[in-house]
Amino acid sequence: MSPIKHLERALEHALKSNESAKGPALLSKAIRHAVFPGGARIRPQLTLAVAHACGNDDPQLSMASAIAIEMIHCASLVHDDLPCFDDADMRRGQASVHKEFGERLAVLTGDALIVMAYQTIACASRRSAQRLAPIIKTVSQGVGAPCGIIAGQAWECEPQAALSDYQRAKTGALFSAATAAGAQAAGSDAETWKGLGEWLGEAYQVADDIRDVLGDSQFLGKPAGQDEEHQRPSSARELGLNGAVEHFDLLVGRAIASIPNCPGDGYLKKLVAFEAERLLPSSWFERGERQLAIATQRQVA
Ligand code: IPE
Ligand code: IPE
Ligand code: MG
Ligand code: MG
Repeated sequence: MSPIKHLERALEHALKSNESAKGPALLSKAIRHAVFPGGARIRPQLTLAVAHACGNDDPQLSMASAIAIEMIHCASLVHDDLPCFDDADMRRGQASVHKEFGERLAVLTGDALIVMAYQTIACASRRSAQRLAPIIKTVSQGVGAPCGIIAGQAWECEPQAALSDYQRAKTGALFSAATAAGAQAAGSDAETWKGLGEWLGEAYQVADDIRDVLGDSQFLGKPAGQDEEHQRPSSARELGLNGAVEHFDLLVGRAIASIPNCPGDGYLKKLVAFEAERLLPSSWFERGERQLAIATQRQVA
């Protein structure tokens, strides 16, 4: 079975074990809507791939850490789409959670998924209890203040924000937690693996900024042109589209170079290269060059 299928199954199982006929049915439905269908599931794939590279001697804990990271990511998207942030009606090709279930349930859905993430890791840590505290610390750093996703969203409330501080917090931090938690779930040192998450996470946000300009909402599965509309710091605006592509390539190169020699390094390098191509396909560029062949919005689909 492919890693993604394993992840989908584990997510389904985790959600099911949190549902009960005694609980509010709409909350359960909204939580499902936030998690399924998935997007790229890149963060949990990274967690699993790093755990494998480190021997994966406790697969239950690595899978729990992987899906916990994805739950937190899904929560962050639900909150990000709320009218008080990006006011987005669409996510992953369907109505965003607040559009379908209302704002109150959307806030609660995000909260519930964050709590479920920690619960999922805790429940899977029986075999390697000494690994629980480091993983919880890692995940918390990726989520909270002063440098996690919450901080990333909070930079939008400041009068000024440096682009890299903003991108590292809002996206890089959870990617870094994803790779570090994969190592820790296998009893390995997290530091060796943080760089991969940091570089790839930043690259991911740079690509997201480029796609926000070039894509249309049908192609993206979410509203396009958001950064311009909300005046967000954006790589496309600060560096220009081709400058942002150059920066993306540099960050992806650093991500690949940071992967240490280990049994799973080939798979990890392929995963990063596959994602880089998915985010900015070669067909968008002049043949053999890294100059975008498409320059206006809504032409890539
Ligand atoms: C979207 O993340 C938000 C960013 C931080 C760029 P993804 O692009 O990973 O979203 P999904 O999970 O594939 O929908
Ligand atoms: C979202 O960033 C990052 C989060 C932490 C949720 P964006 O606002 O740029 O992501 P999209 O474009 O809505 O997916
Ligand atoms: Mg946002
Ligand atoms: Mg958004």
